[in-house]
Amino acid sequence: MSEENQNILSAYEWITKLYHHLLRYTKDGKEGYQYFKDRGITDETIDVFQLGFAPNVKDFTAEFLQKKGFHQQILVKAGLLSLNEDNSVTDRFRSRVIFPIRNHLGKSIGFGGRTIGDQEPKYLNSSESELFQKGRILYNFDLAKKHIRKQSEVVLFEGYMDVISAYQAEVKNAVATLGTSLTESQAKLLRRYVDTVTICYDADNAGTEATYKAAVLLQKIGCHVKIANLRENMDPDSFIHEFGATAFKDEVIKASNTFTSFYMQYLKKDFNLSLESDRIQYIESVLKQLAMIESSVEREYYLKEISNEYNVTMESLTQEIQSHRQKMG
Ligand code: CTP
Ligand code: MN
Ligand code: MN
Ligand code: MN
Ligand code: MN
Repeated sequence: MSEENQNILSAYEWITKLYHHLLRYTKDGKEGYQYFKDRGITDETIDVFQLGFAPNVKDFTAEFLQKKGFHQQILVKAGLLSLNEDNSVTDRFRSRVIFPIRNHLGKSIGFGGRTIGDQEPKYLNSSESELFQKGRILYNFDLAKKHIRKQSEVVLFEGYMDVISAYQAEVKNAVATLGTSLTESQAKLLRRYVDTVTICYDADNAGTEATYKAAVLLQKIGCHVKIANLRENMDPDSFIHEFGATAFKDEVIKASNTFTSFYMQYLKKDFNLSLESDRIQYIESVLKQLAMIESSVEREYYLKEISNEYNVTMESLTQEIQSHRQKMG
């Protein structure tokens, strides 16, 4: 590793500890501590994830790290300070709770900073660098790895708080993509460790679209995909907060859906099912998907569902699907 990157890691190590200490033990970090308490996060969890607080001082970080001997230029590259037009610098993270983003060795390489009020943006990340590339990292992979291996399954979330709440609910094979889109590099990383990925993204429009894309990508590289069974407009963290850990494990994770049944629901958004013509097109689209399923038992299971719901005979559905399968060769 270059000397510069070693310096950046070292700067992150210092400031991660300082932000954490501030949150945990000082008056200056009390608002941050209170924020996590209000969200149901325990002291133990705060320590495990090294959660911290960056105070509302414009040169708190710059001052501390420069005293430790780090050059301003390195700290800008590290994404900890922003460079102003007059070449002065300002702390990037102010008045935000801090989620250290760790690499596979458990070293902080970036931060997510969440506002504790209603400033925009809600989350601010360290700027990207050689060391910190959002699309190449999975949040919490270092701690989740041994659980992922043991269960040969992983649960994929959108955000920091989802992973942290899942951890408190004893779902520890949990990682997040830091936003909604799963990249090919993240997917391949997961593939090396697991056969099955349970996608547990937010049950809103963005999350549902991202679930579809992630599922297609994961299946393409040979993962078996399940889709968590989250109620509309909830995210995993809000579900756990409202209904508790047991309900989360039993009703959301264990009761996850197959990709096919997710897809049959997902496709509906493209059609107005009160129109006969749309209903027919919808059924055709579903059949194209079902044609790709290898197991005839599984195909029949979904065909029966369609047959019952739309009052079409099994004969015609089976005929149609056979013709798709012949075309596929
Ligand atoms: N995210 C981000 N920048 C934003 C919004 C989101 O980087 N402006 C990332 C964060 O990693 C966040 C994840 O996308 O954790 C999911 O976003 P969202 O669902 O909006 O946030 P939550 O994690 O639900 O945040 P919270 O519960 O704290 O409101
Ligand atoms: Mn601690
Ligand atoms: Mn979201
Ligand atoms: Mn969310
Ligand atoms: Mn949330």
